[in-house]
Amino acid sequence: MKKIGIYIHVPFCIRKCNYCDFYSVRWDSDTENKYIETMLNEIEIYRSKLNNEYTADTVFFGGGTPTIINTSNLKKLVDALNDSIEIDKNAEITIEANPNTLTRENLAAYREMGINRLSVGIQSLNDEILRKIGRIHNADEALRSIDRAKDNGFENINADVMFNIPGQTINDVEDTIYKIIKKEVKHISFYSLKLEKGTPLYTMEKNHKIVMPEEEEEREMYYAGRSLMEQHSLTQYEISNFALKGYECRHNLKYWNQEEYIGLGPSAHSFMNNIRFSNPSDLKSDVSERIIHEKLGRDDLMFEYIMLRLRLTEGISIGEFNDKFSTDFLKIYNEQLNYLQKNNLIESDERHVKLTKRGMDISNYVITNFNNSY
Ligand SMILES: C[S@@+](CC[C@H](N)C(=O)[O-])C[C@H]1O[C@@H](n2cnc3c(N)ncnc32)[C@H](O)[C@@H]1O
Ligand code: SF4
Repeated sequence: MKKIGIYIHVPFCIRKCNYCDFYSVRWDSDTENKYIETMLNEIEIYRSKLNNEYTADTVFFGGGTPTIINTSNLKKLVDALNDSIEIDKNAEITIEANPNTLTRENLAAYREMGINRLSVGIQSLNDEILRKIGRIHNADEALRSIDRAKDNGFENINADVMFNIPGQTINDVEDTIYKIIKKEVKHISFYSLKLEKGTPLYTMEKNHKIVMPEEEEEREMYYAGRSLMEQHSLTQYEISNFALKGYECRHNLKYWNQEEYIGLGPSAHSFMNNIRFSNPSDLKSDVSERIIHEKLGRDDLMFEYIMLRLRLTEGISIGEFNDKFSTDFLKIYNEQLNYLQKNNLIESDERHVKLTKRGMDISNYVITNFNNSY
């Protein structure tokens, strides 16, 4: 049986944060119930699509805020998945949460359903910053949600943290990371705030109401957070992700390793049989009309593999690349590799080619060197 990951998009939030352009709508119970019905149909479609060929070894409930929906509705989704798709008994099953949506009751229900990994959006532990970015919780509530999750049986916990926020200082970033480390989480996702078109922060910046940190300051925040995490054994394994050994997110690793996954729900993306497809970002379309296919040719797949793998600290596996594409990586990219190595942007051993720390800072530039060059 081949392995596959399953992503379920839950498109509801209590209130939209000022920076976020993930697809989500304001929650209400009628829309939730309709969404669940549609999802049950979509899961059913995958019963035949997966055709006893696949076992799911990761499941990821992402959002939006999956922890808003009624636990009995979430259980319907979990039951339907178990009924339609073979789920590995050691599967990693993650749910994303906003701190203010975690109660003893729903945490216990998630454990009961087999959910074994929790990803909590902490973002910052500075109340002023949390307010500015439109979060619905303060720092104290965020920290207490981690305690509550641990008290209710979650040991595999990730915290999302953001830096590069207007008004944020290096001290703020260090203070946030330090307090989270003290809570003994197993994983931290450390994201640089990106201004997304159409979000309130984007408009505020355009209207000179806020000023983004200088690029140099952004890098200093990144270095400070990274170094603090590494001092506490949270090892970097991807540009934005740090984990204790053995706690790397198996689901997200599928994306960076160009492995197969299916995404269910509005705006979810899939990759199966070398085809990428995605669902429209709306709650209206009929499930049977939802899927948009995009076929990737060999050259696209090769470039994509490089692009995704360079995000990982392990880098590109030369052997895997050669097997996958029946070619000779070192030969076809000889020129680019020499140039990038000379400029201290990549490093390599016999088996891997990876970004140097300097290369990580300008990873987009490094990656473009591999485009259209075969
Ligand atoms: C889809 S959200 C789900 C988490 C959950 N809804 C919450 O906010 O608590 C995943 C994470 O993406 C990050 N994120 C969202 N928009 C971002 C942006 N514009 N720039 C950087 N990180 C962002 C945040 O750290 C957020 O926790
Ligand atoms: S960051 Fe999370 S809670 Fe905020 S709008 Fe995005 S998905 Fe919703």
